[in-house]
Amino acid sequence: MNPSSRDLGAGPVPAGSPSGVEITLEVNGVEKRMQVAPWTTLLDLLREYLALTGTKKGCDHGQCGACTVLVNGTRINSCLTLAVMKDGAKVTTIEGLASGETLHPLQQAFLEHDAFQCGYCTPGQICSAQGLINEGKARTLDDIRELMSGNLCRCGAYTNILAAIEQAMRASGKGPAR
Ligand code: FES
Ligand code: FES
Repeated sequence: MNPSSRDLGAGPVPAGSPSGVEITLEVNGVEKRMQVAPWTTLLDLLREYLALTGTKKGCDHGQCGACTVLVNGTRINSCLTLAVMKDGAKVTTIEGLASGETLHPLQQAFLEHDAFQCGYCTPGQICSAQGLINEGKARTLDDIRELMSGNLCRCGAYTNILAAIEQAMRASGKGPAR
């Protein structure tokens, strides 16, 4: 591929460009107004143009969950989502979960349970877990396993991830039955 053609196609375009679409997103509580090429994925927008590199690109094909973020509180694979489709939405990435120096309960629980090894999948796992909690459907540990099955961990930290999510759910008063 001609490298310059990829540069032109991957992200925001200059204001006034005929191929640019103006969108506004609230990202981690901050309004962002941008001109983007219509084919820009939300993942590329976050990583390449807003420098929010906590969200990871694993497969770029909707298969690993590393790119999971919350849009209006619902978890999505940002690699499969065009940024223009989410005009006006509230996006929360891993960078937006903590309150200042205080970690989000899921972040704290992942630390306490050693629920990561390389950590590459961790931001997606944590955003997905928050989405799971928002959905309120998990009643058992097996439900958590099933509802987290779209998030893959190459390191095999699943047991500790499950324990961390269970702890955070219990702390929020929404813990699963055993
Ligand atoms: S990078 Fe989006 S699902 Fe793998
Ligand atoms: S901790 Fe390495 S991929 Fe999950």
